[in-house]
Amino acid sequence: SLNGLDLLAEIDRLRKERNAVILAHYYQRPEIQDLADFVGDSLDLSRKAADTDADVIAFCGVRFMAETAKILSPQKTVILPDMDAGCSLEDSCPPEQFAAFRAEHPDHIALTYINCSAEVKALSDIIVTSSSAEKILSQIPPEQKIIFGPDRHLGGYLARKTGRHMLLWPGVCIVHEAFSETELLKLKAKHPGAPVAAHPECPAYIVDHADYVGSTSGILKYSEDMDGDTLIVATEPHIIHQMTKAKPDKNFIGAPGADGNCNCNICPYMALNTIEKLYIALRDLEPRIEMEEGLRLKAKTSLDRMLAMAS
Ligand code: 13P
Ligand code: SF4
Repeated sequence: SLNGLDLLAEIDRLRKERNAVILAHYYQRPEIQDLADFVGDSLDLSRKAADTDADVIAFCGVRFMAETAKILSPQKTVILPDMDAGCSLEDSCPPEQFAAFRAEHPDHIALTYINCSAEVKALSDIIVTSSSAEKILSQIPPEQKIIFGPDRHLGGYLARKTGRHMLLWPGVCIVHEAFSETELLKLKAKHPGAPVAAHPECPAYIVDHADYVGSTSGILKYSEDMDGDTLIVATEPHIIHQMTKAKPDKNFIGAPGADGNCNCNICPYMALNTIEKLYIALRDLEPRIEMEEGLRLKAKTSLDRMLAMAS
């Protein structure tokens, strides 16, 4: 609490007063997921941001997600509890370098993961999320050459799965990169027969041990539908909160990093958002996402293609 304020009650009061909707990603702290109006994966959250009739979107996720909300809903006030909530994939892909890479390959289109800056979206042809990438890729003519960025693991996974060659930008998510194959094998030996669900941002040496590979919403659905009582989860461990809520009797275990536990796989950017910062953001309508209109319109073109091709 902030000086004895009942923060949850204050957030509720402010959400009504401001006609705000609180959107949260599955990697947010449990207490944020529980008070959000909607929790989802990157595609679901973009759709919600595009469709909401709220005046304010309080985005509990990382900056590229809040920027996406602003690009799709420019007339709304979009606030992010902590403006430093970035993403290692975004950091790995500076727009000038991406523009130079594109210029070296003028006969390629740029199919780009939503985990990037608005500038990189503006330099791209079509945006994808992990839940929509395969569907979108299948609609691109086979002879069309493709650059895929910034996540080389998602790009590599798609290339292996579809047999389609793509030029990959060398970015990684530091969270999914931290899983250890050795520790995962030890954990599997301890829980014989327990399936592994992995996010495609994981390196191939993790994905290769997975019984299911998909986006956060896909992994969540798999956890609800599976027959067994134990699941090893190779993605950011805060998603386990939703799994336990849906299936309280099942055993969900976060895949380990090199130290043998899953705490090193907490996304440090997602973790910057707290209840206290959300309260202050709703109170002050700051920090706020602002974007130059020319940039927004260019970024919107590639995002609109995603929404059309994913539907
Ligand atoms: P999804 O929720 O779309 O699977 O994205 C995962 C992620 O890493 C978001 O930063
Ligand atoms: Fe970026 Fe990885 Fe964190 Fe998602 S989990 S926001 S991809 S660093």
